[in-house]
Amino acid sequence: MTQSTTAANLDLHRQQFPALAHKYYFNFGGQGTMPQTALDRIFETYQLIQQQGPFSVQVNSWIGEQSQKTRAAIASEVGATPETITLTENVTQGCNIPLWGISWQKGDRILLTDCEHPGIIATVQEIARRFEVEVATAPILATLNEGDPVAVFAEHLTPNTRLIVLSHLLWNTGQVLPLADIIKLCQDYNSHKPIQILVDAAQSAGSLPLDLDDLGIDFYAFTGHKWLCGPAGVGGLYISPQARETIDPTFIGWRSITMDATGNPTGWKPNSQQFEVATSAYPLYAGLEAAIATHQAWGNVRDRYQQICQNSYYLWNSLMECDRIHCLKDSPPHSGLVSFTIDGADHKTIVQKLEAEGFLLRTLLHPDCIRACVHYFTSPEEMDSLVSTLYRLTTG
Ligand SMILES: Cc1ncc(COP(=O)(O)O)c(C=O)c1O
Repeated sequence: MTQSTTAANLDLHRQQFPALAHKYYFNFGGQGTMPQTALDRIFETYQLIQQQGPFSVQVNSWIGEQSQKTRAAIASEVGATPETITLTENVTQGCNIPLWGISWQKGDRILLTDCEHPGIIATVQEIARRFEVEVATAPILATLNEGDPVAVFAEHLTPNTRLIVLSHLLWNTGQVLPLADIIKLCQDYNSHKPIQILVDAAQSAGSLPLDLDDLGIDFYAFTGHKWLCGPAGVGGLYISPQARETIDPTFIGWRSITMDATGNPTGWKPNSQQFEVATSAYPLYAGLEAAIATHQAWGNVRDRYQQICQNSYYLWNSLMECDRIHCLKDSPPHSGLVSFTIDGADHKTIVQKLEAEGFLLRTLLHPDCIRACVHYFTSPEEMDSLVSTLYRLTTG
């Protein structure tokens, strides 16, 4: 595709996202904008369920088929087989499944990074308290512009380290961690019992190209409502077949088990469905499937990632031209997250002023900065308007 066909094509594609019509949206890392196809599918599905049930043989069979279609759609986005995908509600639930599913022994150690989300840190801290597990933190924030994050992890491994919890794409600085190298480090450290890795994939699923089946990762927890632009309330957890053997379900229900002809439990589902529990808001599954189809109709995940990087480079470059604005990353971003500081400004006030003018961004506390997220369908006009408005607000 030439640049002008890409632009025309993107312009048309953007029209499918109603939230983009009257504002400038830069909060994809918080929540994605749903395409109309997803909104329609959710509404139509709720209606259909009322027409055909709500509880009926027909609806129950639809639920089974839709759940499978949604697992397959997610799997196609993350390079995995549908059997490895557990449907969850969000990233945090997906992280909690392995975190509580491991049979912790007193003296085991969990290695976190200094860039993790508060909800995940809190879960790890509670596990540490209940099971007398040690917690350590690898300081990788400082490797954004220099140094090697793999070396930092290497320095922090100990023989009792059982699990590393890290984000593939850091939510504050936009740094992409070299996951394949970190996996290799853990395998080499103890080849008899490799240290397991749980990935918080809140920012990477739907933005980075992924081949989870080939990567050799244990647990990869994500959500549909951020970069995949699905409804809030549906997420997924990839569990490798080997890692599945190492954890037990904590919450258990009829979706986790097999049953005999009389309805008695006979065992666990022989796949990642073992960690699904019970009744859910099924129409949202249809919504996420439709959102993924909308992205795939525009391009495959690699094309979309390339466009995300093209956009983030454009924004990063424009911001770098403003004297008082400093991007945290001193070289072009490898993701759609562009975080920056403004000399002498209160970032919270700037974000409030931006929102009053229709630009949606967010602040982060650690490090204190403003984060702009660009998706593959973010337009150059949106980015130009953001930069000129920021310029006006900060030089006025
Ligand atoms: C890195 C990271 N982890 C976890 C979360 C929490 O996500 P969820 O509400 O889907 O559990 C977020 C949300 O912004 C995030 O950015």
